[in-house]
Amino acid sequence: MNYRDKVAFIAGGTTGINFGIANAFAAAGAKVAVLSRKQENVDTAVEALKAHGGEVLGFAADVRDADAVSAALAQAAETLGPIDALVSGAAGNFLAPADKLSPNAFKTVVDIDLLGTFNVLRSAHPYLRKPGAAVVNITAPQAWLPTVYQVHACAAKAGVDQVTRTCALEWGPVGIRVNGIAPGPIADTEGMRRLAPTPEATQALVASVPVRRYGTIQEIAKAALWLCSEDAGYVTGVILPVDGGWSLAGSGAMSAAMSG
Ligand code: COA
Ligand code: NAP
Repeated sequence: MNYRDKVAFIAGGTTGINFGIANAFAAAGAKVAVLSRKQENVDTAVEALKAHGGEVLGFAADVRDADAVSAALAQAAETLGPIDALVSGAAGNFLAPADKLSPNAFKTVVDIDLLGTFNVLRSAHPYLRKPGAAVVNITAPQAWLPTVYQVHACAAKAGVDQVTRTCALEWGPVGIRVNGIAPGPIADTEGMRRLAPTPEATQALVASVPVRRYGTIQEIAKAALWLCSEDAGYVTGVILPVDGGWSLAGSGAMSAAMSG
């Protein structure tokens, strides 16, 4: 896929799945900006992305801080040009039973995933190419399948999906498409290190996926590049599971596989 002269901004894009997406955009010729909290993650990501030869910017900021997110987007657009592809993927998750979860722990995850996604989309809006920009929010099957010990992430990602659909409605008329990707269990990620931390848990999780394997970061990145491309020009307001059929297995199978 060719993204030469296009601009991609990836919030939470310094590690894991989101870095894989940033890397795929850079490899396809895009000018890329990434944002996350930790300066060392930003520095490492920027250096790796520069290997593709294009322009790269990195911002150390927290998606919960609307002003910092706005400033980063303004600077990215001023330096690189109007944003063609916006990915919002910053998130936090861990296993914790609802009755043991503190209000602040619940709020923390909702603030990062849901408020953070709103902050990223709202702050980006002035700088998105109109018409032509595409937004992808990274969600999870937990958004529609209740999963034990993840009441915080389930609630947060359900909200993210409604932000996706609502912004698709509001922004369609000016030529901005807004979609979501719901990855299944993806290999070599912090998410899976947290949700399936032992070999036994990994085995149970794989057994609950119809295609009987973890997905790869590259498989999510390819879906993101397709959703942001003209090939997906008539696709908006969609949450695309890229999960080997995991969500078809349902809430019970997901909960059994992630019961800690
Ligand atoms: N179980 C239960 N509660 C937890 C927890 C856990 N494993 N980890 C953190 N918390 C609680 C804290 O105790 C605190 O609540 P309290 O004030 O009532 O004690 C609250 O969550 C906030 O924790 P804090 O460490 O201050 O939050 P943070 O903003 O620094 O970090 C997290 C956010 C907790 C989500 C952290 O895990 C993180 O940065 N995650 C990003 C990476 C990630 O999760 N990747 C996977 C994506 S799927
Ligand atoms: P990850 O590597 O931990 O990615 C999260 C990224 O977000 C990191 O780069 C982190 O960098 C950044 N981040 C976290 N909190 C932030 C904040 N408050 N402000 C700004 N940036 C923040 O985890 P991952 O497993 O690849 O997950 C990536 C996305 O995929 C998430 O949205 C997750 O919910 C989703 N997902 C993952 C899986 C899976 O199998 N892993 C499955 C379904 C959905 P800093 O620490 O530097 O901030």
